[in-house]
Amino acid sequence: LVTTSTDRPGPDAALAAIRPGIRDLPKSGILEIVDYARDRDDVMPLWFGEGDLPTPRFICDGATRAMSEGHTFYTWQRGIPPLRDALADYLSNLHAQPVEVDRITVTTSGMAAIMMTLTALLDPGAGIAVVSPVWPNIYAAADIAGAKITPVPASREPGGVWTLDVDTLFATCDADSSIRAIFINSPCNPTGWVCPAAEIERILEYSRRRGIWIIADEVYARLTFDLQTGEPAATAPSFLDIATSDDLLIVINTFSKNWCMTGWRIGWMVTPPSLGPTLEKLVQFSTSGTAPFLQYGALTALTEGEHFFQEMLARCAKARRAVIETLGPLAAVDLSVPAGAFYGFFRVEGELDSMSLAKRLIDETGVGLAPGVAFGPGGEGYLRLCFAGSPDYVAMALERLAKRL
Ligand SMILES: Cc1ncc(COP(=O)(O)O)c(C=O)c1O
Repeated sequence: LVTTSTDRPGPDAALAAIRPGIRDLPKSGILEIVDYARDRDDVMPLWFGEGDLPTPRFICDGATRAMSEGHTFYTWQRGIPPLRDALADYLSNLHAQPVEVDRITVTTSGMAAIMMTLTALLDPGAGIAVVSPVWPNIYAAADIAGAKITPVPASREPGGVWTLDVDTLFATCDADSSIRAIFINSPCNPTGWVCPAAEIERILEYSRRRGIWIIADEVYARLTFDLQTGEPAATAPSFLDIATSDDLLIVINTFSKNWCMTGWRIGWMVTPPSLGPTLEKLVQFSTSGTAPFLQYGALTALTEGEHFFQEMLARCAKARRAVIETLGPLAAVDLSVPAGAFYGFFRVEGELDSMSLAKRLIDETGVGLAPGVAFGPGGEGYLRLCFAGSPDYVAMALERLAKRL
């Protein structure tokens, strides 16, 4: 049988022949705004969740040393033992009770940990309740897993802070027996909401009673601020403070934010120890592990990086203050003061379409913000500004915004 090039399916046929759920994945609304500004070189980008500091030298040295020493082979699927041990120590010091090493799996990013978690927990068609608004990748990952997403919107009064009505969360889960997991990101990207300890307790108690998984995304756990003074505050309340090792709990975390390592793609998850062998297989059959020399760099971040982290946090606190002092007094702006993470999330009077407003702000001020619509139910009408960059740079962008707003 001879086929000519004209017999072959064209690119559209190829696209039509992949899984519809994958083909139809919506593009992230954050990337839509980045694309809009692509041809402009005068835009101050505050749309992504990262600062402008490169990874500090001593952490890079930890990785390059390991590479030169020959840590370049296939590696432990759940992470090199010294890194897992160091993570267990780090988490045990951070939280109210010990976190044992057999609960820890190193992953090629927090995102990969989320994807692996959803793949492991959710059959296609199974439900997941997602506290929203939240980082768009969460919805996309659940889509890829074929899960049915039920958003549970947090809410806020104008001028107030965000709150989650946990009774609504429970009623939502009670009403749909297909829901197998609750996804909760605290401190929250984009709202800055921090789930209070009492609510964490209630959610854990509900999970125990109903046999529903909790997926706790705690990547911003140490980026918290005192609402009165604006100074850095203690680690956010965590499920790891109170859960036992056999609770239906998976905690997602990353090296990206605390140590300016977004490009490294390295994170970790804490799970019941019984999931270990399954996670080992999932790692084997997806990434086959995280580059060992990167893991040594991450180990350096954990063991020597506290001073750097504290400096980075102080810098965020300063930039956060600039956000509150500049946007807060503007009559047309309704800013929710963030208790955690490094985002300002605000509304502008009379502006209901966040994508259109984000585009106009690029045209009129040259400042790039993420449109709230990208973050799911509850997000439309808001804009997200990342204040992880240098306080002077953030202040300059704020000045431009303030003139227009
Ligand atoms: C809420 C949340 N979870 C997880 C991540 C994943 O981080 P990474 O994939 O860089 O480890 C991010 C990154 O922005 C995030 O905002």
